[in-house]
Amino acid sequence: MTQFPKDFLWGGAVAAHQLEGGWEAGGKGPSVADVLTAGAVEQQRQIHQEIDPNVYYPNHEAVDFYHRYKEDIALFKEMGLQAFRTSIYWSRIFPKGDEVEPNEGGLQFYDNLFDELIANGIEPVITLTHFEMPLHLAQEYGGFRNRKVVDYFVHFAETVFERYKDKVKYWMTFNEINNMMDYENPIFLWTNAGVTVEEGEDAEEVMYTAAHHLLLASALAVAKGKEINTDFKIGTMISHVPIYPKNCLPDNVMLADESMRLRFFFPDVQVRGYYPSYALKKFERDNISVPIQAGDEDILKAGTVDYIGFSYYMSNAVDIASEESDDDHKIHGQIPYQVENPYLEVSDWGWAVDPVGLRYTLNRLWERYQLPLFIVENGLGAYDEISEDGQIHDDYRIDYLRKHIEEMEIAINYDGVEVWGYTPWGIIDLVSFTSGQMSKRYGMIYVDRDDDGSGSFDRKKKDSFDWYKQVIASNGENLSWESRK
Ligand code: BG6
Repeated sequence: MTQFPKDFLWGGAVAAHQLEGGWEAGGKGPSVADVLTAGAVEQQRQIHQEIDPNVYYPNHEAVDFYHRYKEDIALFKEMGLQAFRTSIYWSRIFPKGDEVEPNEGGLQFYDNLFDELIANGIEPVITLTHFEMPLHLAQEYGGFRNRKVVDYFVHFAETVFERYKDKVKYWMTFNEINNMMDYENPIFLWTNAGVTVEEGEDAEEVMYTAAHHLLLASALAVAKGKEINTDFKIGTMISHVPIYPKNCLPDNVMLADESMRLRFFFPDVQVRGYYPSYALKKFERDNISVPIQAGDEDILKAGTVDYIGFSYYMSNAVDIASEESDDDHKIHGQIPYQVENPYLEVSDWGWAVDPVGLRYTLNRLWERYQLPLFIVENGLGAYDEISEDGQIHDDYRIDYLRKHIEEMEIAINYDGVEVWGYTPWGIIDLVSFTSGQMSKRYGMIYVDRDDDGSGSFDRKKKDSFDWYKQVIASNGENLSWESRK
């Protein structure tokens, strides 16, 4: 029988730009997500520099949560959610990003949203920004490659910390801040930092410049948040994809270990408050110049995080004998020397399904940082079909989530890892980040919306809705499920 701590938070996660729509509503300005086209399984999303009226941009309307949040929160309550992770759309609050005064229309929207959640007994868990920086900051300032943007971010953070200080306790600064270590994929630098790499530039150096500014921005925001409310819990948010050696060849074990620095670099700084020695050695070795100024070390030290929020979907494997990864696989964020893991099945989008990898991840993060962990994303992107009986029998999703919850329970009760909560990704169907598709669905609530933008936006409960309701009601003890197929 599985058992979870009494105060364990069961919830669901989304992000503003993938969910809200209302891209021009209430004074909102365009964001870096608003210029992303739709993609497909093996087709990368394109970044446009202006809105083309003849092109479909899936994030513009997303799933219209902006207008339907009350109806959706009523469903979350029925499901029993105790926590709801979303983000604040930066360009709703500062439409261009460099204004002094915030947009009251945007602030009011989140007041209403948080009030509605709280009135329904649901704790808001808030990411300051989840790939949503104002487009103007990217285009006019070059995004986080420019140190000025640090001040604009901190001003945004201070504004929302102050406004929602009595409504929100759990915060995270940047979503999946470590995604941009994959700097060869233009989408990650663009969405994380508003950065594009120009011809002839050293992409890695550009990435580390932006990274330094993001790390400063995060640290300054944490320190500001603590001044505003000492009860705030402010975490980092990282994407964690463990990298296994293909076999026990010592060189492979070392390769996997070294590859993990791609995941650990950001949290190493955010937790410890200084650059890890392997990074400093790398800068020296590869002649990478990072614009570290006098006083930056103190900033990083003064703004370390309280907890680690992380996403977990899959694991990777590497083999020193393999060729470097080819471009065809870049869309999945492939790493150098990546090989298939013969023991694991993959999703329709090529993501290796590995529940034990979640226990492994929890242990690695706990051992390395000794900070509480919060699983703020986990789930299966899959094609859902409406059956003849009009229902969505998503047993595959239930199976995925159940196996991951079982591993999480082992990590808590057997390994002794401190885990605050679990908010599976896309609790309601939304626009996929990497592919821009609606058909890559994660939700327990179906949304009638297709890849071409057609559909009524109507909501419908999937079988996983009832299953998760039972999981929450039993505080994770009852994970069983009898298929309705
Ligand atoms: C994480 C992001 O990378 O994974 C989310 O924080 C994203 O924004 C999620 O949606 C799943 O990825 P995808 O590409 O399947 O939507």
